[in-house]
Amino acid sequence: MNRVKGKVCVITGGARGLGLAAAEALLAEGAKVLITDLDVATGEAEAKRLGNNARFRQQDSTQPEQWNDVLDGVIAEWGRLDVLVNNAGIGSFIDVEKVTLESWQRTLDVNLNGVFLGTQAAIARMKAQGGSIINMASIEGLLGDGMLPAYNASKGGVRIFTRSAAIHCARSGYPIRINAVCPGFVDTQLVASAIGALSPEVAQTLAAKTMARIPMGRFAKPAEIATAVLFLASDEASYVTGSDLVVDGGMTA
Ligand SMILES: NC(=O)c1ccc[n+]([C@@H]2O[C@H](COP(=O)([O-])OP(=O)(O)OC[C@H]3O[C@@H](n4cnc5c(N)ncnc54)[C@H](O)[C@@H]3O)[C@@H](O)[C@H]2O)c1
Repeated sequence: MNRVKGKVCVITGGARGLGLAAAEALLAEGAKVLITDLDVATGEAEAKRLGNNARFRQQDSTQPEQWNDVLDGVIAEWGRLDVLVNNAGIGSFIDVEKVTLESWQRTLDVNLNGVFLGTQAAIARMKAQGGSIINMASIEGLLGDGMLPAYNASKGGVRIFTRSAAIHCARSGYPIRINAVCPGFVDTQLVASAIGALSPEVAQTLAAKTMARIPMGRFAKPAEIATAVLFLASDEASYVTGSDLVVDGGMTA
């Protein structure tokens, strides 16, 4: 019940999917959680459902100035910032020949630049008192996929950026740990929408091929990724920094 008792956490993209599941897991173990998202209606409704220790704030994680408002706001209300989960992300299936520059740039902007902005803003506020920054990467940052060039580039970038920032903080003597979580395929709207945008035939083939690559033979549930976030947020992970925590049903084994 108390694995993260009293810790103040911010989760981007927390209105649904993995971010919402992480919020539920952290709240169940005693944290206070601010979820942020572009989707105001869902975010507000979920924060209300989550109870007294949850809040929602609208944020586009790609906008630098909004980071100051979000993090200073949470410190003004709850007095500290212990955990940042850079979770907001987007993705779509389209190969390197067809992907547009606009789609490439938007994917990098949300999945990588937003993580950089959040990490930089959080380090500035955590370096005296300490904290844990958790960046949502993916097994798509470990393996190439012919249909995910921008997503692969962004998630590979998140993994190696996470290491750089973790080394910097540890070497500087800041009590800040920074890690990446690399989920495999999870049942969320992101995956459903990406597959749904394909023609039915292509979608069926892709779904079957993907399932065949997972030794456990199923997608993860969001709560099964949230437990990895919870571990990295907690003091149980006090010697873990600069790591990738892979949670993929054996897919990359
Ligand atoms: N679902 C999977 O299989 C899977 C696997 C590996 C990694 N991931 C990663 O996990 C994270 C969450 O994915 P999910 O499956 O829960 O996705 P999702 O689409 O269900 O939820 C993502 C949330 O992020 C929000 N969002 C998008 N852009 C934003 C922005 N610029 N600022 C703030 N919020 C924004 C969306 O509104 C949405 O509520 C992403 O980084 C994703 O790449 C997902």
